[in-house]
Amino acid sequence: MSGDCRELQVRGWVKTKRDMKNMVFVDLNDGSCLRNIQCTFDLSLAPDTAAILSTLGTGASVEICGKLVPSPARGQEVEITASSLRLVGDAPGEEKNGAAPYPLQKKRHSLEFLREIPQLRGRTNTLGAVMRVRSALAFAVHRFFQDRGYQYLHTPVITGSDAEGAGAMFRVTTLDTAGALDYTKDFFGRESFLTVSGQLEAEAYAAALSRVYTFGPAFRAENSFTPRHLAEFWMIEPETAFFHLEDNMDLAEDFLHYCLKTALDQCAEDLEFFDRRVEPGLIGALQSIAASRFFRMTYTDAMGELERAWARHGSFEFKPHWGCDLQSEHEKFLTEEVIRGPVILTGYPKEIKAFYMKLNEDGKTVRAMDVLVPRLGEIIGGSEREENLEALSRRMDELGINKERYNWYLDLRRYGSVPHSGFGLGFERLIQYITGMANIRDVIPYPRAAGQLY
Ligand code: 4AD
Ligand code: MG
Repeated sequence: MSGDCRELQVRGWVKTKRDMKNMVFVDLNDGSCLRNIQCTFDLSLAPDTAAILSTLGTGASVEICGKLVPSPARGQEVEITASSLRLVGDAPGEEKNGAAPYPLQKKRHSLEFLREIPQLRGRTNTLGAVMRVRSALAFAVHRFFQDRGYQYLHTPVITGSDAEGAGAMFRVTTLDTAGALDYTKDFFGRESFLTVSGQLEAEAYAAALSRVYTFGPAFRAENSFTPRHLAEFWMIEPETAFFHLEDNMDLAEDFLHYCLKTALDQCAEDLEFFDRRVEPGLIGALQSIAASRFFRMTYTDAMGELERAWARHGSFEFKPHWGCDLQSEHEKFLTEEVIRGPVILTGYPKEIKAFYMKLNEDGKTVRAMDVLVPRLGEIIGGSEREENLEALSRRMDELGINKERYNWYLDLRRYGSVPHSGFGLGFERLIQYITGMANIRDVIPYPRAAGQLY
């Protein structure tokens, strides 16, 4: 910097404070980016700040005025030579008036500990960086689809249908749950739940607007306590009329590429942090995946690979066999050892997939497409939908699904039915993948998981 130094005011929270003879250095952060701004106080020039500085601790909020000057210190271009300091909100480092001391002192905290204080953990470098990436990606999701002529559709949160047929739903009721429940007397006059997916409703609007996408919360009462499952998560579900499975796979691949490129371009500083502190090699991996085509493979071929690996060294906990659902160890093996990159698996056995997927000519497999990525496993699940009324009815009968409940859905096959396809991307899994964070609970502001309402 040269010429006049600008006088400015900054506001934020104290990260650290260091004293050196007559000088005090305060690192300030307002959460807008990872880097702090260093504010230097010369106590001989600003003696009235000394009293505030003497008790100022990490976490306090302050307003500082001063001049922005080139910094002599390494690692920062500029700093602020402070002329005044106002304490906005104290954050005592010791117990005060019965309140515990501010818990986020200088030392590094475990992510487990931070989960217990979701109201404060956003102030840490890690969670702050995660939430900035999350925000940038949420905006990118809309840009991607809007630029391609997709309409943003709001699907209901409260629903009567189990879109995935997996039965893992949270019940919504206003009945007194103490006795036997008569749902005809319930709020909607019938059973209702929190949605597991907006897909079925999106299909209806794809048959009206051609291209739609949803981006909203989904709820699953799965009792799986894994680092990649939440009870409440956000899902992006595009649904496209006249799309076959190949088109759907191309869209999913373009979409993931776009998300990775956006993160690399717009969140460079935060990604460098994750690369340094969370997942070494992260940026290189994201760059190479953003630039390469995803490998495509059938479930049957993938199972062949897994069975051969089992025969060679039997190193899985679950023995793979045709017809079984892939365990995360299998997904890991395929993406990290066999393909060494993302893979789109197609042609799953119909028994392990939802009722709405289009049956292949073999009568055994469906036009499903799951995108699996290294480190994480499944990031996207999707399919071409069964658009034929008879075939869909038959499948629903086989599964014992109450067709009365889905009569509205069957209408889409009765009137102007078209081939159509879609997929769902778990937004938190995307953020996990991009940041390298190991646990999905650390990429959403307030995680909800089995047994834990943080
Ligand atoms: O594979 P799923 O269950 O597919 C559907 O819900 C379809 N209706 C999507 C569609 O075709 N429109 O879920 C889609 C994705 C998964 O691949 C995963 O990324 C994420 O949603 N997901 C979860 N994320 C966090 N916690 C959970 N419990 C999740 N369950 C699924
Ligand atoms: Mg799935």
